Amino acid sequence: MGIVSVPLGKRSYKIKLGRGLLSRLGKECAPLCLGSTCVVISDRNVAPHYARGACQALTHAGFATKLLTIPAGEKAKSLKVVQSCYNQLAAYRLERSSFIVALGGGVVGDLAGFVAATYLRGLPFVQVPTTLLAQVDSSVGGKVGVNLPAGKNLVGAFHQPRLVLCDLDTLSTLPAREYRAGLAEAIKYGIIDDRSLFQRLERDLPKLLERSPKVAEEIIRRCCEIKAEVVGQDETEGGRRAILNFGHTIGHGLEAISRYGKFLHGEAIAVGQVAAARLSARVLGLPPRDVQRICTLFQRAGLPTQVKLTARQRRQLLSAMQLDKKVTGGQLKFVLASRIGRAELPRAVPLEWVEEALEPSDWAEATITLSRHVRG
Ligand SMILES: NC(=O)c1ccc[n+]([C@@H]2O[C@H](COP(=O)([O-])OP(=O)(O)OC[C@H]3O[C@@H](n4cnc5c(N)ncnc54)[C@H](O)[C@@H]3O)[C@@H](O)[C@H]2O)c1
Ligand SMILES: [Zn+2]
Repeated sequence: MGIVSVPLGKRSYKIKLGRGLLSRLGKECAPLCLGSTCVVISDRNVAPHYARGACQALTHAGFATKLLTIPAGEKAKSLKVVQSCYNQLAAYRLERSSFIVALGGGVVGDLAGFVAATYLRGLPFVQVPTTLLAQVDSSVGGKVGVNLPAGKNLVGAFHQPRLVLCDLDTLSTLPAREYRAGLAEAIKYGIIDDRSLFQRLERDLPKLLERSPKVAEEIIRRCCEIKAEVVGQDETEGGRRAILNFGHTIGHGLEAISRYGKFLHGEAIAVGQVAAARLSARVLGLPPRDVQRICTLFQRAGLPTQVKLTARQRRQLLSAMQLDKKVTGGQLKFVLASRIGRAELPRAVPLEWVEEALEPSDWAEATITLSRHVRG
């Protein structure tokens, strides 16, 4: 089992990675003094595969365990579903001596974490990520929350988990499209902080796409190390943590204008990262060769790299981006890379340049059309 520590003083915790870890869930929770009762929150796709194993492991370790299942997918990351969770927890008569286990991808992790942050003014929670995206990124760092129709993650909190348990075996049931979406966040870590990770992804992408457990574990571990280090330095995004948002201002805008129903998060930020790379070339002199390498890697991973928008959709996107949390004083700010492996803190960029970076170019084949899905 691999272990990565997230250094946050009293709120420090461990990320444990390996195969077959789900059956150890109860044993791993027992020493953490989380309470005597727990509610496992999962979704309708994940629960049939893994809820029984998770609940059994917890029961065997002596916890009174209940299961709460929510709908699957980004549309479920809403206040309406949060409200239904609160009602269910109240029906279970959950007390302060209880904790929440988030068993699922980033949607379950963000939503269950938000429920844990707010119900009874805060309960401890444990992340058991079951998507590649959640294992490389979203289960670590304590950002929890839900979407509003107006924008992504507009309601949320910082609430660190007490443990992150990554069972690599759970990735075996993940649909291919979801697996590829997770690669978008892994590639992000290469671009923003680790050139050799980026090179490794270029080299080992075929093995990763075949889901080699060894390669996947090494990549997940490296991404977790980077995230742990960044979050350890800047828990609440006063500064450096913002680099984790590379490609996200545009990505979140695309998710919002398509009503969270067209792109997976990983797909939206793949498009966003390619646009951010082009902006980086213009603003910070990222070499055109590196922009090309970034674009090619996303394409090889089977991810979209650009989006075809009508003039109206482009206006909607720019307006949705204004609601992003990276906006200060009404100015849109972007995390940009000066080279592969080094991202800079957000900076204001002229809107025309953003529009130009979003224009489809010849060399990128993976173009996606939004048309029917954008709100009228
Ligand atoms: N909190 C953070 O720091 C952070 C960071 C990155 C992304 N996010 C958020 O994460 C979300 C995306 O997460 P995601 O891509 O994991 O999406 P997701 O949670 O919707 O999971 C993707 C799909 O796969 C299914 N699934 C999950 N695990 C499975 C498994 N093992 N086998 C079969 N099916 C499985 C789910 O039911 C869902 O349909 C977005 O809302 C994004 O904003 C948060
Ligand atoms: Zn993301």
